[in-house]
Amino acid sequence: MAVFLSHSEEETFRWAKDFAATLKAGDVVLLEGEMGAGKTVLAKGLIAGMGIGDEVTSPTYAYVNEYGGRVFHFDCYRVTSEAQALGLGLSDYFERGGVCIVEWSENIKDLLPGGCKRIKISGNGSEREIEF
Ligand SMILES: Nc1ncnc2c1ncn2[C@@H]1O[C@H](COP(=O)(O)OP(=O)(O)OP(=O)(O)O)[C@@H](O)[C@H]1O
Ligand SMILES: [Mg+2]
Repeated sequence: MAVFLSHSEEETFRWAKDFAATLKAGDVVLLEGEMGAGKTVLAKGLIAGMGIGDEVTSPTYAYVNEYGGRVFHFDCYRVTSEAQALGLGLSDYFERGGVCIVEWSENIKDLLPGGCKRIKISGNGSEREIEF
């Protein structure tokens, strides 16, 4: 595990934008950290780094934002059961060959494929430790 120390939202975004170069189609990236840790900021950096500009987001469900069929950004905060997640079709996205970025993956842990990449964010004030 390596650690990057970020001092601002912008630094987290830029780190993620660069980190995106290490991702390939089919990867599932789990973003871990408490509420407000910076998971969405990091996800947006990854999305930008994958060459998605101002492409329109299609929120197929409130739970997943889809970018051109290539990137899927999940927010599973409000998922309360595996049955609900299955009913929403969340597991289907893992079969689509894009990059999946998942916030609050602990709420769908039984549906996650093997070999997920994890990025853990912690800290307070404007400092964040990003473990990857
Ligand atoms: N170094 C930093 N990196 C990222 N965000 C930071 C940093 N310092 C401060 N922030 C602030 O922390 C907040 C992070 O919000 P964000 O929505 O990304 O969190 P989250 O982990 O997605 O929360 P949630 O669990 O509610 O989805 C933003 O308000 C951002 O400005
Ligand atoms: Mg978020």
